[in-house]
Amino acid sequence: MPAWLKDAVFYEIYPQSFNDTNADGIGDIEGIIEKLDYVKGLGCNAIWLNPLFDSPFKDAGYDVRDYKKVAERYGTNEDLVRLFDEAHKKGIKILLDLVPGHTSEEHEWFKKSCEADRNEYSDRYIWTDGAFCGIAGHPYIGGEAERDGCYMLNFFKCQPALNYGVLNITEKWQLPTDHPSCIATREAIKDVMRFWLDKGCDGFRVDMADSLVKEDDEVKSATGAIWTNIRAMLDADYPEAALVSEWCNPKCALKYGFHADFYLDHHGNGYNVLVRDCETEGGDHSYFKKDGGDGPQRFLADYLPRYEGSKDYGYISFITCNHDTPRVTKALDISEIKLAYAFFFTMPGVPFLYYGDEIGMRYLADVRTKEGGFHRTGSRSPMQWDASAKNFGFSEASSEKLYIPQDSSADAPSLAEAESDPDSILHTVRSIIALRHEYEDLQADAPFEVVYAKEGERILVYKRGNLLLAVNPSGEAVKIPVSELDSISCSNLIYGIGKADFLEDELVIGAQSFGVWE
Ligand code: GLC
Ligand code: CA
Repeated sequence: MPAWLKDAVFYEIYPQSFNDTNADGIGDIEGIIEKLDYVKGLGCNAIWLNPLFDSPFKDAGYDVRDYKKVAERYGTNEDLVRLFDEAHKKGIKILLDLVPGHTSEEHEWFKKSCEADRNEYSDRYIWTDGAFCGIAGHPYIGGEAERDGCYMLNFFKCQPALNYGVLNITEKWQLPTDHPSCIATREAIKDVMRFWLDKGCDGFRVDMADSLVKEDDEVKSATGAIWTNIRAMLDADYPEAALVSEWCNPKCALKYGFHADFYLDHHGNGYNVLVRDCETEGGDHSYFKKDGGDGPQRFLADYLPRYEGSKDYGYISFITCNHDTPRVTKALDISEIKLAYAFFFTMPGVPFLYYGDEIGMRYLADVRTKEGGFHRTGSRSPMQWDASAKNFGFSEASSEKLYIPQDSSADAPSLAEAESDPDSILHTVRSIIALRHEYEDLQADAPFEVVYAKEGERILVYKRGNLLLAVNPSGEAVKIPVSELDSISCSNLIYGIGKADFLEDELVIGAQSFGVWE
């Protein structure tokens, strides 16, 4: 386990939309370098960059055409290396986005794989042995290549599935996972990882990490074996490199070798019911919703087994949002969001802050889809640095040229405004992250324990190591007799939102309040 993860707080940057320095309307690497001090000032000591490799951008860069080449619109490989170096000087780690499940249909490997004559890449993707037979249960394309076969898709039409083999073989065109061609695919991805690790990157966020071996068993053991193999390479040659999975099953992902696994927004799961439970019947029952929110039980029922089953192997990553998920502002207001973030940043594991969430950027429901974004596009609009500057200071381009139009509402948030407002989300984010860095008990490893959570009540009291924490997202103050808190000795308030403290022999948590005691 790389030691730096223990106190890591990540900032996710969607490179298209962060900072444009050459007025083409699209963010670039130079723009990220310019803002490293800003990221550091938030308390984030690590960055995850969405893919910035050569691509036709039919899925915003998750359709990689060349894994070893930075897309021109972002800069050059040299620029990326300079970003690694500048970040390291400031104590910031950089994770790249690794897309191992598929490439772009324009990748050289795929073009060779389409040829009628057999070659080194014929088995790099999953092909059937006839252009007229489908691939049961999987999306596929036929009739597009000279080769007499259909190929499997891993996501959109532009993303053919790389071939790591099939676990339960039923067709003669399927290859076992230990076939030399499938091993070659794995080694090719390891080669890509080495290429960037040797240039100074600090690890990878891994896209659709569970999608490698097809017809895998329920616990994805064949896919897992590939990650265990890859992790062995890291342990041997890059022991400080981190591997974070898009899997959302920490019990599997962490045992197979990932250091951290995202808690994704899957409908009805523990993460979803905290802040995004707005699609359920009868209104929004998200835990952090002041009115109409549920108690913490639904969250705990989902989270605790995940946590207990994985804490000895690695970390669960809470996210404020990501590039695939509606921003929390879609459903929660500022006071609700502050409590949610205070909670996320005091939980075990390695938290991720999505760019713009620190200033309460809105989910823009009405923007036109861009690069395969569809409903996700609303969470990918350019950063709003300063309302008084052109395009909020994101770009000098004319506003029609921007990657995605920006928030046009009169009260669109901006960093400059958040800086000067003492009640902004920004100040809460900075102070809670600073607290996390100050107290080891708030970092990745210290145990999480529920102290008080009762059916029909909104309050949650929990411990991290020797610290006591309480959150009350409801509109009413709550009093709990100290006798119900099971021999808790903490009474010195070290952080508070709203009103929260011990008064005589009661813990009193005001409406929408949060406290941390030592
Ligand atoms: C992941 C990415 C998403 C992308 C998809 C296909 O879910 O986060 O943005 O479209 O994989 O690569
Ligand atoms: Ca640019």
